[in-house]
Amino acid sequence: MSAPNKSYDPVEVEALKPEEIDRAREQALAAVAAAGDLDELREVKSAHAGDRSPLALANREIGALPPHAKAEAGKRVGQARGAVGKALKIRQEELERERDERVLVEEAVDVTLPYDRTPAGARHPLTTLSERIEDVFTAMGYEVAEGPEVEAEWFNFDALNLGPDHPARTMQDTFFVESPAGEQGGADPESGSGVVLRTHTSPVQIRSLLERELPVYVICPGRVYRTDELDATHTPVFSQVELLAVDEGLTMADLRGTLDHMVRTLFGEGLATRLRPSYFPFTEPSAELDMVCFVCRGDSVHNPERPCRTCSSEGWIELGGCGMVNPRVLRACGVDPERYSGFAFGFGIERMLMFRHSVEDMRDMVEGDARFTRPFGMEI
Ligand code: DAH
Repeated sequence: MSAPNKSYDPVEVEALKPEEIDRAREQALAAVAAAGDLDELREVKSAHAGDRSPLALANREIGALPPHAKAEAGKRVGQARGAVGKALKIRQEELERERDERVLVEEAVDVTLPYDRTPAGARHPLTTLSERIEDVFTAMGYEVAEGPEVEAEWFNFDALNLGPDHPARTMQDTFFVESPAGEQGGADPESGSGVVLRTHTSPVQIRSLLERELPVYVICPGRVYRTDELDATHTPVFSQVELLAVDEGLTMADLRGTLDHMVRTLFGEGLATRLRPSYFPFTEPSAELDMVCFVCRGDSVHNPERPCRTCSSEGWIELGGCGMVNPRVLRACGVDPERYSGFAFGFGIERMLMFRHSVEDMRDMVEGDARFTRPFGMEI
C-alpha cells in the first residue's frame, strides 16, 4: 500500500475545513440578513449561492475526498448550502412583501383627483338634438338645406307672404342690418330689399325651392335672431328646424303622418298628436302641432294631486307651427300651385330641449359652461 495521498486528506483541502465551511455559511447568512432590497439580495445570492460561491466551490471538492471523509464533508456542505438557500428564500419573501406594501402606498391612486386634466369637451346638446332631428328626416329621404343668417328681407318676409304691413316686420322683432333702398340708402342692390338677421328658418324654404329641382324634400336647421331680452325663456339668438316638402299630390294627411313619425322617433311610441287651427302667412291652412305629454301622458289634467312639470299639467305639449304651403309662396318661387302642393313645419330647438330634458333656464344653453353640456354626453 502506498502512503496516503495527501491530497485526499480533508484537512488538507482548505475549502472543506469545517471552520471554513462554517465561516462561509455565517458570511452568507450575514449577507442575506444585510440585504436591504431585492437587488442587493440578487447579488448576495450570486456571491454566496451561485456557481462560484465558496460553498459551491467546496461542494465541488468533495469528490476528491477519500470515501470515509466524503460523507461528513458532504453533510456539512449540504447543510450549509441548505441553510443559505432557506435564508435566501425567507429574505426574498420578506423583501417582496415589503416592496409590495411600499408600492401600494407609493402608487396609491387618489380617486378624488380630476381624472382628466385636458377634458375632451362635449358637444352642445342643441347641436346633438338638431342632428338627431335631421337624422329622422334624412332617413326618410330628406336633404339638409342651409341658408344665410344675414338675409334679404325679401326671403325672410316678402316671398313668405309676409306683406310690408305684417306685425312681424316691425322693429319689435327684427334686427335690421340695412334698410330697404330708397329709405336710407344701403340695401341689397339686386332686389332693393333691406337686409335683416333672419327671424326664422322659413326663408330657407324659398331658397330651396329656387335652387332645387322639384320635388323638394328638405330639412333646414339653423340659428335665428329676434330682438328679445335674454331671460329664462327667451334668447335673442336661438335655433330652429324647418321642414319643407313640395311634390305632386301632397295633402295634409302626408304632413300629419310625417309629423307623427317624427314624434314617435324622438319621444317614443303611442303618443297622440293633434293639429290645432292657427295662422301663418306662408301656410294655408295653418296649424299648431301638439303632442300628448310624454311624461304624464295627459294624466295630470285629471289628477290635481299629481301635477306635471313638463306640460304644466296641460296634458299637451306644443311642438311648432305647420301647414300646407300657401300657393302664393309657391308662385313666388316659380312653382305651379295647380300641379304641386307642399307642407311645411317649423319649430324651436331650445324649447324642445327644455321640455325633452327638463332644462329650466334657457340661459344655461347660451352661456357655454361645459358643466351644463357635459351631462348630455358626446353623442357622436
Ligand atoms: N317660421 C315660423 C316661426 O318662426 C314657424 C313656422 C310655422 C314654420 C309654420 C313653418 C310653418 O314652416 O309651416 O314662428
